[in-house]
Amino acid sequence: MTALVRAVDVHRIYPRAGIELSALGGVSLDIERGSFVAIVGRSGSGKSTLMNLLGVLDQPTRGQILLEGTDTGKLDDKAASRLRSRLIGFLFQSFNLIPQMTVLENVETALLYSGRPEKEWRARSEPLLDRLGILERSSHRPSELSGGEAQRAALARALVNDPELLLADEPTGNLDSRTGEEVLALLEGLVAEGRTLVLVTHDPSIAARADRVIELSDGRLVRDSESDGVA
Ligand SMILES: Nc1ncnc2c1ncn2[C@@H]1O[C@H](COP(=O)(O)OP(=O)(O)OP(=O)(O)O)[C@@H](O)[C@H]1O
Ligand SMILES: [Mg+2]
Repeated sequence: MTALVRAVDVHRIYPRAGIELSALGGVSLDIERGSFVAIVGRSGSGKSTLMNLLGVLDQPTRGQILLEGTDTGKLDDKAASRLRSRLIGFLFQSFNLIPQMTVLENVETALLYSGRPEKEWRARSEPLLDRLGILERSSHRPSELSGGEAQRAALARALVNDPELLLADEPTGNLDSRTGEEVLALLEGLVAEGRTLVLVTHDPSIAARADRVIELSDGRLVRDSESDGVA
C-alpha cells in the first residue's frame, strides 16, 4: 500500500548572508496511515524545516515529498493548496491564529480552498468548536483566549476539512502541563479515530506515547524506533 507520506532524500538549503546553510541533509522516511509519529531532536536540528516540507508549506532544495503517492514538487500553487487543505491540518506552538479575526472566522478561513460552498461553512465549524469545548468563544478574538482555548481554536481550524494527516509542531510548547495534557489527549483521540499524527516535541514523556520516534540531528535522521525496534 502507498505510504501516506514519503520523503525521499530530502535536502533543504537556506541561503543566509551569502552562505548556504544545510538545514536538512538527505532525509528519507515513510509514514503509514493511522500512526502517531514523534519527531525529536535538539534545537536547530531541522524538525520544523521537515514539518514544513511534509506539509507542502515549503519545497525541498533536492529530493521529493510524496503525499498519497503524489509527487508534491510537480504541483502548481493552486493544486498544492487544494491538496494541503484536503489532506493536512497544521498545529503550531504559537497557535498562528489570525489576530483580527474571531475564532469562528479563523476556523472558516481553512475552508477557503475546500471547494465547499460558503453557506455550509458555519454548519461545519460550529459543531467542531462545540466538540472542542469552545463554542461559546466563537465570537472572541485570539487575544481574548487562554492558551488552551487558542490551541483548541487552532485544532478546530486544523480539523474543519476532516484531514487524514495532522502535523503538529510543538503544539503543547506554550501550554502549562495540565492544558498541554488536555490538548495531547485530544490529539491521541484523533489517532484512535484513524488519523495520522506527526508531532514535534522536546518532551520525552510525550515522545514515549508515540507509536514511533524519529530523531533528527544536524539535519539528518539519526534514530528511528521503527528500525531499532524500541518505541
Ligand atoms: N527560513 C529560514 N532561513 C534561514 N535559515 C533557517 C530558516 N528556517 C530555519 N533555518 C535554520 O535551519 C536550521 C534548522 O531549523 P529548524 O527551525 O528546522 O530547527 P528545529 O529543529 O525546528 O529547532 P527548534 O527546536 O528550535 O524549533 C537552523 O540552523 C535554523 O537556523
Ligand atoms: Mg522548530
